Amino acid sequence: MDYSELFSADTHNFMRSPVRDIFKKVDLSKIYSFAGGYPHPSTFPTDRLASMVETVRQKYGDKILQYGATQGTNELQEALSKRYDVPADNIQITTSSQQGIDVTARVLVDPGDVVLVADPSYLGAIQSFKSYRADIVGLDLTPSFEASKQRRATIQALVDAGKKIKFFYTVPDFQNPSGETLTLAQRSELVALAREFGFLILEDCPYRELRYEGQPQTTIYTLAPERTIHLGSFSKVFAPGLRLGWMIAAPEILDKVYVCKQALDLCPPVLDQYLAAEWLSSGELDRNLEKTRELYRGKRDLMISMLEKYMPEGVSWTHPEGGLFLFLTLPEHIDTVALYDKALAVGVAYVAGSFFYANGTHRNTMRLSYSFIDDEKIEGGIRILASLIR
Ligand SMILES: Cc1ncc(COP(=O)(O)O)c(C=O)c1O
Repeated sequence: MDYSELFSADTHNFMRSPVRDIFKKVDLSKIYSFAGGYPHPSTFPTDRLASMVETVRQKYGDKILQYGATQGTNELQEALSKRYDVPADNIQITTSSQQGIDVTARVLVDPGDVVLVADPSYLGAIQSFKSYRADIVGLDLTPSFEASKQRRATIQALVDAGKKIKFFYTVPDFQNPSGETLTLAQRSELVALAREFGFLILEDCPYRELRYEGQPQTTIYTLAPERTIHLGSFSKVFAPGLRLGWMIAAPEILDKVYVCKQALDLCPPVLDQYLAAEWLSSGELDRNLEKTRELYRGKRDLMISMLEKYMPEGVSWTHPEGGLFLFLTLPEHIDTVALYDKALAVGVAYVAGSFFYANGTHRNTMRLSYSFIDDEKIEGGIRILASLIR
């Protein structure tokens, strides 16, 4: 049957993720995979899961399998409120931070509205904004006087053209894909622009707790709580299979999200919320985080030492202070989209950097993730990748 007449106009704006398509095609455990931003399975409490379920069953009985409140369970809201020192009324539990991104776009974006993004940016967010027919404008966040002037000029030109800018989307800590962290000056500049031009900031922080070097930066939410929607996630500090995250924002914004979520999924997964609240309030989250940070610091160091050992002249990379990714810039003539099939044929997977740019530029870049790959495979994978680049 031909279904094309039946699909909505919005489906024409759906964008397929080349990253998720990679996972469909290959068994990542059989190759040298630097592709997925998957947490290492050793960070999951798999062995303790049965006893954790038993603990919440004894504490809460049937409630753990019942429908829950749309805003999330009291227990999880309270645990997050204590940890992040914000009133529970400013917290909405989400079915993962991807939902936080999508629901934000859904309550703020009309077709043709501008969403500003850092160039490069997380692909899942770009996919979501496109599906609501946002006009996505990428900004270069280089911390220089010239680039700052350019950012302001770009925004001013959009306003002069009659465009409505709704929000700026950023992953300020150990960004996916670049691994970079915004300085306080960069965060303050974004806040100043948001205040001057009247837009909001969507601050997406799934990696914030994974800092293994240097001092934490102030969140943008702390700098401007009235115009920031802050997103957190349990995916990298507990388990992504739970699909659990949270939003921190002004109650007026969360009320729209609340009504929207009633139609989306009624409530976030209830058993998962009880497990997460227990994980947090028992102190397990912090104990586990120490080991997780240690693990990823070791992997980052190993990656960088192997890049230094094998990569030819003209290749540079970022030095993440946390998170799961680093970003490579290769000589201009190398096209990482074209190189990908060759790399896969010799057993190495990465994600081409151009997929993360609003206009598909920077084809000489690539994202390498070091969280999932076992240490023993890192040297072999980087050696093969370097020989392809050479
Ligand atoms: C920057 C960023 N935001 C959001 C997500 C989605 O995470 P979650 O599992 O919480 O939906 C990811 C996933 O990798 C991400 O990198």
